Amino acid sequence: MYISCDSTDGPERQTSCSENFLKRLITLEEINLIFLSFLGPDYWGLLNPEWKLCNRGRRQSPVDIEPSILLYDPGMGKVEVDKQKVNGTLKNTGHSVRFRLDPTSPAVMVNGGPLSYKYRVHEILLHYGRTDDKGSEHTISGHAFPAELQILGYNNQLYDSMVEAMPKTQGVVGVAVMVQISNFSSPDLRLLTSQLDKIIHKGQMKNITHISIQGLLPDTSQFMTYEGSTTMPGCHETVTWIVLNKPIYITKAEIFLLRRLMQGDEAHPKTILANNYRPPQPLYNRSVRTNVFNHDIGDNKCFDSRKLFYRGNVGFIHWIE
Ligand SMILES: *[C@@H]1O[C@H](CO)[C@@H](O)[C@H](O)[C@H]1NC(C)=O
Ligand SMILES: *[C@@H]1O[C@H](CO)[C@@H](O)[C@H](O)[C@H]1NC(C)=O
Ligand SMILES: *[C@@H]1O[C@H](CO)[C@@H](O)[C@H](O)[C@H]1NC(C)=O
Ligand SMILES: *[C@@H]1O[C@H](CO)[C@@H](O)[C@H](O)[C@H]1NC(C)=O
Repeated sequence: MYISCDSTDGPERQTSCSENFLKRLITLEEINLIFLSFLGPDYWGLLNPEWKLCNRGRRQSPVDIEPSILLYDPGMGKVEVDKQKVNGTLKNTGHSVRFRLDPTSPAVMVNGGPLSYKYRVHEILLHYGRTDDKGSEHTISGHAFPAELQILGYNNQLYDSMVEAMPKTQGVVGVAVMVQISNFSSPDLRLLTSQLDKIIHKGQMKNITHISIQGLLPDTSQFMTYEGSTTMPGCHETVTWIVLNKPIYITKAEIFLLRRLMQGDEAHPKTILANNYRPPQPLYNRSVRTNVFNHDIGDNKCFDSRKLFYRGNVGFIHWIE
């Protein structure tokens, strides 16, 4: 098992496939390089000792969210995401579509909900399927969505960068939004999707200006949250995931453009990029909390309890169309 040279981009392209490559400290940039089509997520832990969490970790992401085990937590307030517009770069990384904010752009902060700290948005990743029945990393009652948009931020009160924060305690927040196919989409999403034809091949990028991260989010204050990991090597168990309880929409034409993106560069396009998701990992002993209090649950048995276990929650079923 090895990592092929053309799995790297940028200055790394010329380096040989030495063991040193595997042993180097894994940075975010490198994580992006190493997601190879022929090495499934099951092998990540075997590739590099620093990735052993990928195989042995018990707080891994993504997970399947089963509404019946959600724990109602009335102590969690709204999740706030700053509204202001930013500039950044949309890139085909060979395994994902990534929008990374310019370091000079004003900070977009995420706080509230389950978070004890303020997190600064670093980038947005898009996971999606070749077909409409799969693509999201998180699933709901075993149901996958055609795509999942993930907003990743780092703890800006304890750390100075995503690279520093990623392996550290309370380092990262991931806001996950399921993406459903419809005949409309949001103006902010279109700012990204309208440039997809410029990043067909790996390494290609396009500057985007005046985009609002908050404008990409659905209009809901409802979410589910759990403690998990990055969904790429080294699978650091430092991520507070917040899964919003409403999808956003993408048109068929937009998802068609996504499915044209390639994993390789122009000379060696390899195969198409779709299906760039990690499958759900066992929940083991973690709880998944929610701020959705469902008054329609029916039997008032649990009404006074601060711990409410949902059953067949209409609040979640409505967005499984
Ligand atoms: C974004 O880019 C535009 C055009 O290059 C520039 O005028 C503007 O000042 C930039 N905004 C930020 C917040 O960097
Ligand atoms: C989407 O398309 C369907 C079927 O063509 C139509 O009934 C519906 O009104 C459309 N919705 C929007 C928001 O355009
Ligand atoms: C894209 O944005 C980067 C960072 O702001 C800038 O250095 C670069 O010149 C821009 N490229 C184009 C083609 O505008
Ligand atoms: C953790 O969950 C497993 C089942 O998934 C159960 O057998 C075990 O007792 C639990 N451990 C703790 C400490 O709750």
